[in-house]
Amino acid sequence: MSDPWQECMDYCIEVTKRAGKMICEALQKDIAVMHKSSAVDLVTETDQKVEQLIISSIREKYPTHSFIGEESVAAGAPSALSDNPTWIIDPIDGTTNFVHRFPFVSVSIGFTVKKEIEFGIVYSCIEDKMYTARKGKGAFCNGVPIKVSGQEDISKSLVLTEMGFKKDAEQFQTMMANIRNILSIPVHGIRSPGSAAVNMCLVACGSADAYYHMGIHCWDMAGGAAVVREAGGVIMDISGGPFDLMSRRLIVASSRMIAERIAKEITEFHVGRDDTDD
Ligand code: IPD
Repeated sequence: MSDPWQECMDYCIEVTKRAGKMICEALQKDIAVMHKSSAVDLVTETDQKVEQLIISSIREKYPTHSFIGEESVAAGAPSALSDNPTWIIDPIDGTTNFVHRFPFVSVSIGFTVKKEIEFGIVYSCIEDKMYTARKGKGAFCNGVPIKVSGQEDISKSLVLTEMGFKKDAEQFQTMMANIRNILSIPVHGIRSPGSAAVNMCLVACGSADAYYHMGIHCWDMAGGAAVVREAGGVIMDISGGPFDLMSRRLIVASSRMIAERIAKEITEFHVGRDDTDD
């Protein structure tokens, strides 16, 4: 039977390449920075223009499909996931990196049907690395198959997380204590590349062994989740339960052993959900 979503995936790769080109061109010019929810939540005109390019190109071809895009949601669009084919888009994952020209900046797109991720594309455009994954068909970087390291011993692992400033003092303390707990296992090290989607792809290709985060969004996770899963990685909720795309939290790892150990070390804090006002 032919694959009903392969054509969407091929088109997505084409649009993502155009989006990456737009980002790389914008990096050659002055970047005007605006703020969203806080002084460290940055956005630029390029985030908005790239999202418009992606959504208008896809909507023209697939007018009945739904969209959840970071900048559309910031402008008031809903972010509830339905059974309809849905494109979940982060036009620039790593906006802070983009503003500073720190070289991990990606376009991330995940495509769901009946709330299941069918494929994911992450284009780390400065590095020119195009990560692609179709459910059941493996994960690739620039067309070459990739897989996780398979590491099971956390004391031999490299762990990724991100350290955004938390306005809530208690959450901030918990975030720092979690980092201290992981470092004290000990692990080989912790890194923060600054793009959730790239972080997942780094685990997917074996350059890191785990990534955990509380407080990101479905558009940061959808594309990379497909890539890491198809590369043989494990994805779970921060509690150790099943991964939930709208939960704003996740652990990805090269093995279940490492993911479960991280879940054990982490103290949770409340981050709300993408699909409720909670
Ligand atoms: C951000 C990146 C970053 C993470 C932030 C995200 P954005 O995405 O993924 O790694 O620490 O929480 O918001 O805002 O640049 O699309």
